Amino acid sequence: MPLNVHFAPATLWSDYEQALTEAMAGAGIDVHLTPDAPDPAAVDYIVYAPSATLQDFSPFVRTKAVLSLWAGVERIVGNATLTQPLCRMVDPAMTETMVAWVVGHALRHHLGMDRHIVNPGHVWDPVCPPLPRDRPVAMLGMGALGTACARALAALGFPVTGWSTGAKDVPGIPCLHGADGLARVLSTAQIVVTLLPKTPGTENLLDARRLSMLPRGAFILNPGRGPIIEDAALLAALDSGHIGHATLDVFRTEPLPAEHPFWAHPRITVTPHIAADTSPHTASAVIAENIRRSEAGLPLLHLVDRARGY
Ligand SMILES: NC(=O)c1ccc[n+]([C@@H]2O[C@H](COP(=O)([O-])OP(=O)(O)OC[C@H]3O[C@@H](n4cnc5c(N)ncnc54)[C@H](OP(=O)(O)O)[C@@H]3O)[C@@H](O)[C@H]2O)c1
Repeated sequence: MPLNVHFAPATLWSDYEQALTEAMAGAGIDVHLTPDAPDPAAVDYIVYAPSATLQDFSPFVRTKAVLSLWAGVERIVGNATLTQPLCRMVDPAMTETMVAWVVGHALRHHLGMDRHIVNPGHVWDPVCPPLPRDRPVAMLGMGALGTACARALAALGFPVTGWSTGAKDVPGIPCLHGADGLARVLSTAQIVVTLLPKTPGTENLLDARRLSMLPRGAFILNPGRGPIIEDAALLAALDSGHIGHATLDVFRTEPLPAEHPFWAHPRITVTPHIAADTSPHTASAVIAENIRRSEAGLPLLHLVDRARGY
């Protein structure tokens, strides 16, 4: 009997149909894939994105896992009807694009590119940037994405210090923890990258007090989640010049409302949540591998810890 796999974000079906079908065949899984409303009691696995209309998981009584296409699971992790194991997405292509976004925007600030790209007066102003080794970077969040970005920046010579909940063993990248660790990381960081999930423990983490710990002129890159930084505190720190620039990919409300002050602020760059999308081809391979593992009685990859919220 083929396994019944329900693809819940029906709007994305045309992007995923071929990639998922090929990935399942490649993993040797006999599967019936459907984006249509199935008999819930017959569904073995759900491939899910929060854009789906499906919100009540209670009728899916035999479903063995819900496999998210998104890395961030804050919109589903607290769903009381979701009692099945939940896996988040760790996609190599998503990691690759996040590394490119973070390195690109970090280098923009490090090299002072804006002065040369927009130079209407054709001013010859030969100010050389400092060495990367003299530009400390804080990587808040040392998970799948944060670690890859930390490694890429360290490979360019930036001294990167990570910050996460648990201990990490990443050669050349010290990693601190807790409130004291965060204060130490922030106190020297000239570039701060936030790659944390949105949880009660990270919401408004960068408030006025924490932003004031940064050296004057520090740059902030936030491709994590909007609520990690307190909007009003960030605006005040930018207005005072304490923060040099913030490049933001994620926001409390998306799309960012037209009247939001971030749009017009001269020291904010808005990118429209494009830092790292899930790639159907590579993500389908991850989904197929997790179903294969589940059917073989092996532990699921990227299982979400409900208590921690990520
Ligand atoms: N902008 C985009 O296009 C885009 C795309 C994909 C993902 N994202 C965002 O990026 C986030 C990170 O993704 P990921 O795959 O790297 O997640 P992940 O592997 O789960 O890593 C999360 C990291 O955050 C740390 N962390 C969580 N809560 C913490 C806390 N209260 N204090 C200190 N550290 C904490 C974790 O510490 P431990 O390792 O010790 O658990 C871990 O290092 C996602 O949750 C999502 O919000 C954005």
